[in-house]
Amino acid sequence: MNSRTTLSDTDFVMKPVVLITGGTGQLGSALGRAADPSWKTIVWNRSDVDLADPQALSTRLEELSPNIILNAAAYTQVDRAEEEVALANAVNADAPKTLANWAARSGALLIHYSTDYVYDGSGGTPWQEDADIAPLNAYGRSKAAGDQAVLDSGARGAVLRTSWVYSALGKCFFSTILKLARERAELRCVADQIGAPTSAAWLAETSMELLAKMRADPQFPAMSILHAAPSGETSWHGFAKEAVAQVRAAGLPLAVQQIDKIETKDWPSPATRPANSRLDTTRLSMLLGKSIPDWRVLVQQEARIFADTHTAREQVL
Ligand SMILES: NC(=O)c1ccc[n+]([C@@H]2O[C@H](COP(=O)([O-])OP(=O)(O)OC[C@H]3O[C@@H](n4cnc5c(N)ncnc54)[C@H](OP(=O)(O)O)[C@@H]3O)[C@@H](O)[C@H]2O)c1
Repeated sequence: MNSRTTLSDTDFVMKPVVLITGGTGQLGSALGRAADPSWKTIVWNRSDVDLADPQALSTRLEELSPNIILNAAAYTQVDRAEEEVALANAVNADAPKTLANWAARSGALLIHYSTDYVYDGSGGTPWQEDADIAPLNAYGRSKAAGDQAVLDSGARGAVLRTSWVYSALGKCFFSTILKLARERAELRCVADQIGAPTSAAWLAETSMELLAKMRADPQFPAMSILHAAPSGETSWHGFAKEAVAQVRAAGLPLAVQQIDKIETKDWPSPATRPANSRLDTTRLSMLLGKSIPDWRVLVQQEARIFADTHTAREQVL
């Protein structure tokens, strides 16, 4: 894109220029699918702009001049972030700052995504949006810095903090455990970390609903944190059991016979994970004017996609 795109107010309402970052990721690709086909939607992958390069990011933003930015890109390698602190900070803190400052200057709306990993995982009740943050690992610290930069920018929009993002076709716990369940009779999963698995498809649709409200209502709350996760709670063990049951119910045979519970201490990893990832979503429910679906409903939808995709692949082979 060589020339700066300029749109009238009418164009903004009718045909906004929408930038989605992280197009190869779980959420970025779901946002691309959920975007209104009448919009001019530009999806950036790493090959379009390296978000760790602030100069390239600023230049491309000026060229594109989006009215709406959905920042789904992130450095999400939680364990590797312990070693690659500078890179995690560049992508998760510096790039959101550049995007948010640009949005504030230009009047663009921004939805930025964040994580339950900004909280310290203590207690047994859901975190509210105004809870103190105290990340346990480098990834969480980099995301917390990004959240603060976005909040400080003065841009209009929201920081959506979500948890345990998955999609049937993404690289995530859900698809990994199901792949293993096809090969092995016995699996082991952590049972003492509690949260809500969030399907990328639901988060993308929810983002679009929020965006519609923001665009329609100039009084919509200024940039603030909003928890966005399904209702209910489970452990990684409970998530795995439900995924396996739903994929079987969708007709795909699996080898797994038993899923054993283990504790976090039995699965050592470089980054410490929070035990309590429950997010209070009362605010989201009120803003959307409806109840939030249970996490199992979303697992069922993704399980069907997983089963159908694998059945179709095997028929081709
Ligand atoms: N996954 C989770 O369990 C989880 C939980 C809570 C919150 N979140 C948050 O939810 C959001 C979406 O996560 P996700 O699961 O969709 O992540 P994902 O699947 O790992 O996708 C991350 C995206 O960011 C891109 N990216 C990374 N570094 C980049 C760089 N230097 N330049 C340009 N693009 C870069 C990746 O590109 P490549 O494909 O080229 O690497 C990929 O497209 C993130 O803000 C994440 O922090 C995720």
